[in-house]
Amino acid sequence: MTKKPYVFITRKVPDETLAPLKEIAEIHSWTEEEIPVPRETLLEEAKKADGLFTMLSDKIDTKLLDHAPNLKVVANLAVGYDNIDIAAATEKGVVVCNTPDVLTDTTADLTFALLMATARRIVEAADYVKEGKWQNWAPLLMAGSDIHHKTIGIVGMGRIGSAVAKRATGFDMNILYYNRSRNETAEKQLGAKYVSFHTLLEQSDYIVCLAPLTKETENLFTSEVFHKMKRSAIFINASRGAVVDETALQRALEEGVISGAGLDVFKEEPISSEHPLLRLKNVVALPHIGSSSMETRKEMCELVSRNIANVLCGKKPETVVEA
Ligand code: DGY
Repeated sequence: MTKKPYVFITRKVPDETLAPLKEIAEIHSWTEEEIPVPRETLLEEAKKADGLFTMLSDKIDTKLLDHAPNLKVVANLAVGYDNIDIAAATEKGVVVCNTPDVLTDTTADLTFALLMATARRIVEAADYVKEGKWQNWAPLLMAGSDIHHKTIGIVGMGRIGSAVAKRATGFDMNILYYNRSRNETAEKQLGAKYVSFHTLLEQSDYIVCLAPLTKETENLFTSEVFHKMKRSAIFINASRGAVVDETALQRALEEGVISGAGLDVFKEEPISSEHPLLRLKNVVALPHIGSSSMETRKEMCELVSRNIANVLCGKKPETVVEA
């Protein structure tokens, strides 16, 4: 009997989502759900692995790839793959897969919810009630900013950006976007208007970043950029923390250069509870849960399983990252 391929899963994931893999591979898994696999363990496992089922917190770099002689596929449980050195993987003939499409609507829902929570001060207001601070109804109690009929500026008009724009049409918002290339479908179907980054910053009430982390987008949101926004602007980030200079953002929020921020992602995750951004009342912070609904996370796990199984069986994966 021929030996089954060896697959290592870097986190505990729902067992039932692994059915396609179980049929064809010997599976080993890190047993923790919330604690990432230690780097040393990952390196040891990679030495034996034909396939790796990875998370965005696992660094798949040259060092790992150089010590993984049998590795054929790395499948990431995320649409983003900035944790993987794609060029190095491609050079070694390792196929890289991600999980687009299945998470688009769920991530767009969360992004819009974060925008609404920040604009309407939902978290602050809910805490106010729970902490027993609510004494009386008052004309301007927890008064936030309107969302309907305002201008949303979406940076990164891919699948998730378009799904956020679709939600914005339901709020009669004026939709601007900035992207590497024009998205004519979003223009035709959603009335989105392609503008320069500068115009988007100047005209938007809500600036929503959904651009992937690349060399071009790293530290895109600097102090200078925040100073170009309206003083009433609210910044939402649901892509990657490293697109923002967090010190510049903190200052902009403290000094009233912009009015609020809703952040699902941070440069360092998990962000320290001591981080100065978390002390600000005008910040809503979430623990990177963009695609985190039960349904979607299970679908993502199933897609990762099928992608690994396909590659290991010599078939085409459903969703491959092109170098
Ligand atoms: C992704 O898929 O890249 C998300 O950030 C994970 O929730």
